[in-house]
Amino acid sequence: MGSLSLSVRSPMNTERNGAAVLVRAPAKVNLFLEVLSKRPDGYHGLATLMVAVSLYDTLEFLDEPSGQIALTCDDPTLSAGPDNLVWRAAELLRQRSGSKCGTRIHLSKRIPMAAGLAGGSSDAAATLEGLNQLWGVGLSRPELAALAAELGSDVAFFFATPAAWCTGRGEIVAPLNLARPLHLLLVCPDFGLSTPEVYRNVQVPQQPLDGLAIRKAALEGKSESLGRLLHNRLQPAAEKLRPEVAALHGRLQAARPLGQLMSGSGSSLFAVCRDRGEALRVARQLRTNLAGPTGCGPRLFLVRSCV
Ligand code: C5P
Repeated sequence: MGSLSLSVRSPMNTERNGAAVLVRAPAKVNLFLEVLSKRPDGYHGLATLMVAVSLYDTLEFLDEPSGQIALTCDDPTLSAGPDNLVWRAAELLRQRSGSKCGTRIHLSKRIPMAAGLAGGSSDAAATLEGLNQLWGVGLSRPELAALAAELGSDVAFFFATPAAWCTGRGEIVAPLNLARPLHLLLVCPDFGLSTPEVYRNVQVPQQPLDGLAIRKAALEGKSESLGRLLHNRLQPAAEKLRPEVAALHGRLQAARPLGQLMSGSGSSLFAVCRDRGEALRVARQLRTNLAGPTGCGPRLFLVRSCV
């Protein structure tokens, strides 16, 4: 397990409702993502600035006296079997804690999948958090985050403050305070991208960017600088696989927000806006330009960074 630097706060929102534990699992965007190396284990060394945003999946956890794990999901396109990261998180927590408890989990999906928004990873983190409470396991946040890092590269991030500088393969998390909330427009195309495929197409740069300037801009609340300094090394690889990503990036740029970028390994993009009014204006402009004969286009979400 990688070393983890963690805060006691978490953007995950947990509450009890009678016998149920409810957890809201936020999406994330990457304001900066540099690829530093190709590692012998097949992963890539990264440096990335991640921010949790106000678009949430919701998970409900109920005790299951039979000791079994059962998962249902309102999205029929998502497997609700043992391969789902939520199920794997529940199994991992049970195994490591020695608990004999069972659970019925219901997952309500709102975060688009294969979109670079880490919805599945966030659901997995929410499962560790929710079942730690429901089952009375009593693991500390750093212990939960260490389990999270075993489930995927960006799962541990969801145990950090709403923003963090993440290194290693993404699992070494150093919380960072955003001086002010960010207003973003998320643009989610009707196709997804496979993370391994995007990474297979990435070029490791000779001279990687260090991201110092954007971290400073985030810490100081300088949104205009932050908009100018957005960077994602995975975007050219994603654009090669799906040229629509480049076309959407151009459309966003034409609406003149503070900046625009693809998130993670795509396919979603986001615009950093001065305020909610500007995010709405950019959304309207994009909607007008992109509406096809059926009036459909990418899904748009006005969000803020979590607090
Ligand atoms: O860790 P996770 O399961 O989310 O990673 C999914 C895939 O993304 C990996 O199998 C790998 O192909 C790629 N990846 C990578 N380097 C990272 C993170 C992910 O190459 N730092």
